[in-house]
Amino acid sequence: MIGIGIIGAGGIAQAHAEAVRSLADRARLVAIAETDPARARTFAEKHGVGKIAADRRDLLADPAIRMVCICTPNATHASFCVEALEAGKAVLCEKPIAGSLAELDLIADACRRTGGIVSSIFNWRYGGGYRAMRELVAGGAAGRVLWAQVNVLWRRTAEYYRSAGGWRGTWKGERGGPLITLGIHAIDAAFSLLAAPCEVHAVVDRFTHDVEVEDTSAAVLRLADGGMASVNVTSASHDESSQVQFVCERLTASSNREPYAAAEWPWFFHSDDPRTRDLIDAIAVRSRPEREENAHLAQIRDFLDHLERGENGPVPLGEARRSLEVIAGIYKAGFTGQPAALPLSPDDPFYREMNGGRILEGRRGRR
Ligand SMILES: NC(=O)c1ccc[n+]([C@@H]2O[C@H](COP(=O)([O-])OP(=O)(O)OC[C@H]3O[C@@H](n4cnc5c(N)ncnc54)[C@H](O)[C@@H]3O)[C@@H](O)[C@H]2O)c1
Repeated sequence: MIGIGIIGAGGIAQAHAEAVRSLADRARLVAIAETDPARARTFAEKHGVGKIAADRRDLLADPAIRMVCICTPNATHASFCVEALEAGKAVLCEKPIAGSLAELDLIADACRRTGGIVSSIFNWRYGGGYRAMRELVAGGAAGRVLWAQVNVLWRRTAEYYRSAGGWRGTWKGERGGPLITLGIHAIDAAFSLLAAPCEVHAVVDRFTHDVEVEDTSAAVLRLADGGMASVNVTSASHDESSQVQFVCERLTASSNREPYAAAEWPWFFHSDDPRTRDLIDAIAVRSRPEREENAHLAQIRDFLDHLERGENGPVPLGEARRSLEVIAGIYKAGFTGQPAALPLSPDDPFYREMNGGRILEGRRGRR
């Protein structure tokens, strides 16, 4: 039985606690650490957690806890991952696992020092449609991916940015805007299937929201194998949709457009090649569940499987790096107005911080 502690009892922690409850034969929620005492009590009562830690360090010192889920605001992730690794815990951290490439490398150093296990939540990777596409690419049926597109058009209100203590919408608390907090799911889903990005052209801007970060971005990327991709993300949309699309040598693939479930079935595949069509049909039959499982539950189960085998994963730092590199490149190209070459070097200001230490003026109110 694996003892689990959760740090942060806000919105997404509920999904972690419910997943642990569904895995009661393998895992048990031992403690919650939360700085807001009333929220901690409500959470503990709702999920039957025996121990409330006012300070996360008390939770990390508890020998009954082997695995820690980090569910706090973005800016805390890297330092909490390092602390948890140093305390000997296996770590599953909400996305984005780090707020910059520099922060990601601090976690990588701690991982090397401690030999610990650390994985980023990327729940979209458990959607059946994404998994079918992954199999088609990994098994070679799709051929080379020539072009990919990521569109994330979500609606966020002024209340969303004001609530939760105001960490959202700031470089300090959120470490970026919708690119790093909302678009990252679809960016990870697409770029986990592509060659490494090597050049980024982008514009980032703020049209609607009264925040420091961008609310809208558009980018075009060149990939190391000659392929290309575009990424469009906004939190200023009136309607909501998400979509990832691919043109490959032997097929074309499109996700559905459900804003929060684009990785799930249905996906739409087309090919001129009869053999590829047969492969698509076979994979679709195999990977299309009657009902999609809750993706946090699927990833936490997968994490427990990795932990029990002593393996790092399911989304180790090397894989989590890709989306952060794309996002850092988009910010660099957007802020500087120049193409950004990837990978960024450690002395690059955009490696250290997503805004490269700059202020985003934004076009709000301008004509
Ligand atoms: N995977 C997903 O689909 C998904 C969805 C929503 C949010 N998230 C991610 O989850 C994280 C949390 O988002 P949220 O919407 O739950 O935020 P939230 O503000 O609702 O919850 C964060 C909680 O952390 C607590 N907290 C802050 N500092 C703390 C500390 N030092 N020790 C203990 N508790 C502390 C806050 O009091 C709050 O209760 C974010 O990084 C976000 O990007 C992921």
